[in-house]
Amino acid sequence: MFITLEGIEGSGKTTQVSNIVKFLKEKGHACVITREPGGTEIGKQIRAILLNPIHKDLDPLAELLLYAADRAQHMKSIIKPQLSAGKTVICDRFFDATTVYQGFARGLDMEVINQLHRIVLDSIKPDLTLLFDLPVEVGLGRAWNCLDNGSRAIQECRFEKETLVFHEKVRSGYLSLAKQEPNRFQIINASNDETKVFQEIIIALTHNMKK
Ligand code: TMP
Repeated sequence: MFITLEGIEGSGKTTQVSNIVKFLKEKGHACVITREPGGTEIGKQIRAILLNPIHKDLDPLAELLLYAADRAQHMKSIIKPQLSAGKTVICDRFFDATTVYQGFARGLDMEVINQLHRIVLDSIKPDLTLLFDLPVEVGLGRAWNCLDNGSRAIQECRFEKETLVFHEKVRSGYLSLAKQEPNRFQIINASNDETKVFQEIIIALTHNMKK
């Protein structure tokens, strides 16, 4: 099974990863946790370029291609082999983030993005995508708290520095993808506290395992 987590900055998806793994392990699934960008050693270097706020002049097309490069490496060295070995792969962000951030928010050509998806994904798609949804001001407030208290490195705040309008486009982009693919997406109300959010996730996971 291939599960991806998506959402705006500060949506709390990363916090829930360990809860999800604990739950799935109890149900007998062998799990692999990974993320994009930066799921591989090479990807970590790409991540450092992508998220560092000193790279404010990074060209949107170069940004798109760096995410695609990170993903190509990740598909080959982690996602494909682990899925083939029968593992449940839980990935913190995946190709929907490209459609939404580089497509809906940056405004790059969706046909180019879809073409890259066809090349890089090789028809592998998540079975379930948990979309952590909450108002942009709440998410960004949380994200900046993490940067201020040091729980997230300040060298990774390039996207947090984007405008509110940019983040609104990200949120509405995700919601429109969820509308297009209601069978794959489960929207989680990420405004709630951690326990309630996890309860919603359990319902989504249980429903998906019955399919
Ligand atoms: P995160 O690992 O803390 O979620 O940060 C990753 C950032 O990269 C986040 O702001 C979303 C952004 N991103 C894209 O713009 N496109 C992508 O394809 C991916 C995977 C992430």
